[in-house]
Amino acid sequence: MHTIIEPFRIKSVEPIRFTTREERETALQGAGNNVFLLHADDVLIDLLTDSGTGAMSAAQWGALMQGDESYAGSRSYYRFESVVRDLTGFRHIIPTHQGRAAERILFHNILRPGDLVINNTHFDTTRANIEVEDAEARDLVIEEGKIPGFIHPFKGNMDLVALEKTLAQEGDRVRLVMVTVTNNSGGGQPVSLENLRSVREIAHRHGKPFFIDACRFAENAYFIKMRESGQRHRTPKEIAQEMFSLADGCTMSAKKDGLANMGGFLALNDDAWAEACRNLLILTEGFPTYGGLAGYDLEAIAQGLVEVVEESYLHYRIHSTAYLANKLDEAGIPTVKPPGGHAVYIDARTMLPHVPPLEYPGIALVNAMYLEAGIRAVEIGTVMFGTHPDGTETPAAMDLVRLAIPRRLYTQSHIDYVAEALIEVARGKSALRGWKITRAPKALRHFTAQFQPVA
Ligand SMILES: Cc1ncc(COP(=O)(O)O)c(C=O)c1O
Repeated sequence: MHTIIEPFRIKSVEPIRFTTREERETALQGAGNNVFLLHADDVLIDLLTDSGTGAMSAAQWGALMQGDESYAGSRSYYRFESVVRDLTGFRHIIPTHQGRAAERILFHNILRPGDLVINNTHFDTTRANIEVEDAEARDLVIEEGKIPGFIHPFKGNMDLVALEKTLAQEGDRVRLVMVTVTNNSGGGQPVSLENLRSVREIAHRHGKPFFIDACRFAENAYFIKMRESGQRHRTPKEIAQEMFSLADGCTMSAKKDGLANMGGFLALNDDAWAEACRNLLILTEGFPTYGGLAGYDLEAIAQGLVEVVEESYLHYRIHSTAYLANKLDEAGIPTVKPPGGHAVYIDARTMLPHVPPLEYPGIALVNAMYLEAGIRAVEIGTVMFGTHPDGTETPAAMDLVRLAIPRRLYTQSHIDYVAEALIEVARGKSALRGWKITRAPKALRHFTAQFQPVA
């Protein structure tokens, strides 16, 4: 059979609210023309993020009832620890309330002003947590990964020549080498096992620890299985285990491939770093056996990490994302190719060449999609990445709009509706205009900036 079906039945449903165009115009204006500031009830199909927005399984809901809420040493922590250790092999497993808390605890302990962290592409919170320590976050993804329409099986790969050169020239400053799997800010593109092995070898030869930002490790493992030679016979879990075995630690947001609505962890082998991180954890998150999570959250994550590496789930996940990308492709809407694991990325800069990058073509497209059909997406471009620590602004490498697909949440007809709406927006694209920012905070401005149309 060729039809890809959802590998689950639906046991419980949640209504979504239909609005008129006039209601959406009022709602968007009231939100300062920033879809982050909308009430979620005014959104029909929410593709803002795949983070914490998925549907849990019956087994996860059942696991919630097993939650042990003991302050210290809870049974739920030990179940969580054993699942994470089985998967990652790391010695120390530190729960956190989400991915950025793991980043903050790690970076605050290990970075000094002037240090350098290398990554294929830092996610925005990762970059912000490095820069807040007055350290530098440098992206060294391969050149192919920066060209939206270029087809390459592993566009998330690290540029090994650039990594080697940076370590040779600025090795004193480099505190950590990281790889983000899949590469969210670069289009949800995977990293090959071969590349991970080489990054490890180069980092270790220069005496640098190597960490994985593991938010979407299972989707990355499935891409490796499908695309890397010699990997077809392995299970996604075996591949994931090898990925983790190459690293000295990882940061993880369990809101993605943990299939949970909240949670994360920091896992690592170094005893001294782990002790320092646990001490900071107690200060800001909680005791090391709960780290800001309820016992029931730890249960949901433990069960989610078991389900996420199931082949039938990953097959459906990766193919249903590609289904939307293929529909847009057939309609001539430019997307990042090949499609990523958790999202389809529209190349807004190419789609709207008449909107200059500093007038935010991504925002023009995001706002048009909301007004057209009540769909919420997110700009990943100049608003998110265009500012620098010295206060200047330049165009980001790409102006993308991400349609993130929550896990197990929407059916194929929801996705058909999204494609139809986008095709309608594309028909009227020449009328779309740029936007200017009227108010914005210094860091992570995309969350709360307010916009006005360019006159
Ligand atoms: C690659 C990557 N790293 C880190 C994070 C931060 O995780 P959280 O949102 O749980 O803080 C995200 C969240 O989207 C991410 O995609």
